[in-house]
Amino acid sequence: MDLKIKDKIAVVTGGANGIGRAIALKLAQEGAKAVVADLNLDAARKVIDEIKTAGGEGMAIACDATSPESVDALFQVTLDHFGAVDILVNNVGGGTAIALVVRSQVEDWDKVIEMNLKSAYLCCRAAAKAMMPRRQGRIISIGSVSGRTGEPLLGHYCAAKFGLIGFTQVLARELARYDITVNTVHPGYVFTPGWEKLAQALKDMQPLLADKSLEEIFNQRVQAVTPLRRAQTPEEIAGLVAYLASYEARSITGQAIGIDGGVVMS
Ligand SMILES: NC(=O)c1ccc[n+]([C@@H]2O[C@H](COP(=O)([O-])OP(=O)(O)OC[C@H]3O[C@@H](n4cnc5c(N)ncnc54)[C@H](O)[C@@H]3O)[C@@H](O)[C@H]2O)c1
Repeated sequence: MDLKIKDKIAVVTGGANGIGRAIALKLAQEGAKAVVADLNLDAARKVIDEIKTAGGEGMAIACDATSPESVDALFQVTLDHFGAVDILVNNVGGGTAIALVVRSQVEDWDKVIEMNLKSAYLCCRAAAKAMMPRRQGRIISIGSVSGRTGEPLLGHYCAAKFGLIGFTQVLARELARYDITVNTVHPGYVFTPGWEKLAQALKDMQPLLADKSLEEIFNQRVQAVTPLRRAQTPEEIAGLVAYLASYEARSITGQAIGIDGGVVMS
């Protein structure tokens, strides 16, 4: 299927690793110019090198998606260089400070909300300003199964990812008149550097996991809760995001779409 995103300018936050990396590669493969915005500039540059080696185009930009100044600079540099922003993928997120709510720390709450929710707010605000005059745009935020069902030990993360859905519905209504669509995509379990850190945190917390590898802890979790009994790949998530970024998806807005092997059914 021709996604009709050739030469579109796509900003992917947290695009240097894991799911974000796969999204940047996929959008570039479909002809978009990918802006990989990440705290880790060296890793972001490697993704751009991969894109260029494959014949694509893009740019790496150092950015802290939780900082208003850094986010505004990201979009200013993108506009100065490419002249437009057509697609925004809010992929920055995660957090490994797992704890029961009664034992949790306020600093961890603030950090996880900032990383998963404030980052999306800041990027949407800046990207929408660039998209509105051109009356077109696609905004896709990466949620989680934890944004659609409560999970013990992840109070802050669930609150942030559930919040992302409400925020997306508001923005989808506010931006509909400009033909800008806004959606969330909710992966189940994807073995990424982020999940490895989470598995390590679980291992540190639970003595029964002491002799298990990080991948075994991940697989155990997948098998326990996933009807289709398998994890998702970063490329599967990237495929759905690319579809939502396409012309074909022009009538889909304000939606929370699961891609999780059936963990959450609605
Ligand atoms: N991995 C999973 O199983 C899974 C499942 C559901 C949802 N998700 C969501 O998918 C998204 C990506 O997850 P992942 O596992 O690929 O993450 P990851 O930790 O593997 O990679 C995240 C990337 O974001 C960058 N980053 C972190 N904080 C940043 C900031 N403040 N500003 C800019 N860049 C920053 C990191 O440097 C890294 O390159 C997250 O929103 C996560 O909540 C992941």
